Amino acid sequence: MASRKILFVAPEVDPFVKVGGLADMVGALPKALADLGHDVRIVCPLYRSVRRTGFWRPRPEPLGIDVGPAALWARTWETHLPGTSVPCYFLENDALYGRPGVYGEGNASYPDNDQRFIALSRGALTLCLQLDWIPDVVHAHDWTTGWIPVLLNTVLRDSPLGGAASVFTVHNLEHQGYAAREAVEYARIPPSEFHPRSLEALGAANPMKGGLYHATKITTVSPTYAQEIRRPESGCGLDDVLRFRGADLIGILNGIDLDSWNPATDPTLPARYGPDDLAGKAICKAALQHRLGLRESPEIPVFGVVARLVHQKGLDLLATALPAVLATQNLQIALLGSGDPALENAFRRLAAEAPGRVGVQIGFDASLARLIQAGSDSFIMPSRSEPCGLTQLYAMRYGTPPVVRATGGLIDTVTPYDEATGGGLGFRFKEATAEALAEAIGSACSTYHDRPAHFAALRDRGLRGDFGWGRSAAAYAQVYEWAVHARRGGDLAASA
Ligand code: ADP
Ligand code: GLC
Repeated sequence: MASRKILFVAPEVDPFVKVGGLADMVGALPKALADLGHDVRIVCPLYRSVRRTGFWRPRPEPLGIDVGPAALWARTWETHLPGTSVPCYFLENDALYGRPGVYGEGNASYPDNDQRFIALSRGALTLCLQLDWIPDVVHAHDWTTGWIPVLLNTVLRDSPLGGAASVFTVHNLEHQGYAAREAVEYARIPPSEFHPRSLEALGAANPMKGGLYHATKITTVSPTYAQEIRRPESGCGLDDVLRFRGADLIGILNGIDLDSWNPATDPTLPARYGPDDLAGKAICKAALQHRLGLRESPEIPVFGVVARLVHQKGLDLLATALPAVLATQNLQIALLGSGDPALENAFRRLAAEAPGRVGVQIGFDASLARLIQAGSDSFIMPSRSEPCGLTQLYAMRYGTPPVVRATGGLIDTVTPYDEATGGGLGFRFKEATAEALAEAIGSACSTYHDRPAHFAALRDRGLRGDFGWGRSAAAYAQVYEWAVHARRGGDLAASA
């Protein structure tokens, strides 16, 4: 396959700045693509919270971005994805990005998010002109960069960037970036695009919808989610668009960065381990119990949670189920998360009511997240919807069989435990109810206590599983080829 120039434009990229799994994906897939021989570069805003790891240098020329009534200026910083030669550019503009949050603070979104991410979308494309590096494909991620496929099809169609294909990845259809109609003007996109078969939805501008209509190819992060979002009950109001674009939509399962997420080398853990020697996992468990004030007992199974505390993740089901679960099961809970204040308080209260059995930390803590993955015996993920989900993959990789609801990427990644054969990777339940979740936790708990050989086999299959990017990176490379040929109207067979 030809080597291609691929520009990633994204609102977050691990390890520089991360809110959720989108950052993990954007920090990992480019490495795998670079290993396949592609020239990949990444553009992201310079928020105040960006961690400047490694070597950074400012580019000499300021970047003029054609948005709003008068051009906007940004300074560009250049670095690399750690451990790779993948260039990563950060756009500095204090008025837009010089704040602590990515999308907002607390539970409030920034009111000018439309302008912030229109500037990112247009700025990333303009930077290519300044670098004299014209990508074959621009790979945009979620609503923040949904403007890119629209820009490439309209104002930039006759520019040197007009030949670039766009690939638009839906990480989470629930956030669509609704903005006032004026956003279209700010983006300098022709007002004729404020139309239901482009950017308009419910009288507002919807960049997710615009991206879906205009992208050369669309991907989402698991095959099951790719099917789910075509249906009215899970299409978040855009299922008709997704059906309309159905021939150009494909689900590609996310991988994980096997170097970063490796229990045998993870420097943040108090001890390391692998499938052939689990002594280090027991040390991680003791450290986790100590850290979260749980009773330090190797026998009691610890069930971990690391998540954004939002409706989508279904953790209210866990809060509801917990009193009964604690009354009937011999287990502990180790939870790290932040989000909905009511849910944060519910978990604080549950921890106060069950000292030594429920340990809760509210906040964002990358190393505690890893300790929970390593030190827990099982991992709970009761998502109402889950486009892919990475934490269940990290859990399996760390020998921590997950309990998941059967939805989206959780279906594609967690083969259910079969009591007859002992097969599978974790525990699955169907209904999004506290009762169904409690039953699944009960089943994990009794397997742990009563069928230890089965539980050990689940753990072992996870530890030895291949959750890396290999296959999926090749699938993205294939999508880029299709996109390039569709954009240029070429003969795919002739150049394959
Ligand atoms: P989503 O992107 O929907 O939040 P994923 O499972 O794809 O779900 O990815 C979540 C990522 O964010 C994982 O890397 C997880 O470890 C991390 N994460 C979520 N909440 C926290 C937190 N409170 N502290 C540290 N890391 C977190
Ligand atoms: C989103 C989804 C999550 C997915 C992640 C990375 O945040 O909610 O399921 O794993 O993006 O693609």
